[in-house]
Amino acid sequence: MFKLSEDGLKFVKSELTRYETKQSAIIRCLYRAQDENGGWVSPEVIAHLSDVMEIPSAQIEEVATFYTMFNKTPVGKNHIQVCVTLTCGMLGGRELCDKMMKEAGCKKEGEVSPDGLFTFSKVECLGSCDTAPMLQVNRDPYIENLTNEKGIELVKNLRAKGRGH
Ligand code: FES
Repeated sequence: MFKLSEDGLKFVKSELTRYETKQSAIIRCLYRAQDENGGWVSPEVIAHLSDVMEIPSAQIEEVATFYTMFNKTPVGKNHIQVCVTLTCGMLGGRELCDKMMKEAGCKKEGEVSPDGLFTFSKVECLGSCDTAPMLQVNRDPYIENLTNEKGIELVKNLRAKGRGH
């Protein structure tokens, strides 16, 4: 059963006062709830937000489904989104992602690695084409100008930092 933390509840309440309609607060509240739920939006998260925000759950679900930054299935501690389109695609984004997945022990996109540390997604242009190929880990700043070697190194470094949300 998912419940927001006390701080999370305060956050949602204050978001609800910031906009003309409650619906405008859904994205930011979903982000917060996703963070508190280990990186994904479960049906319980939607039900809880619906209660707290007094918005029908179908409306919250619609937003969660429409935007790709909300994960509808569990993800590893490090959700690595590798851009594989346009410039990144031409400069090896796909191969980079495949090599990193292999290093992390993920057999396919969207899967959580056996140690719980990694999930990979191949994503569309993230707007940083001049520093291709690039990726984003969770919501951290972009990591750019990558090579396969740097990508593998990144997986090793993240693994060394350990587990747990
Ligand atoms: Fe990868 Fe634009 S093509 S960031």
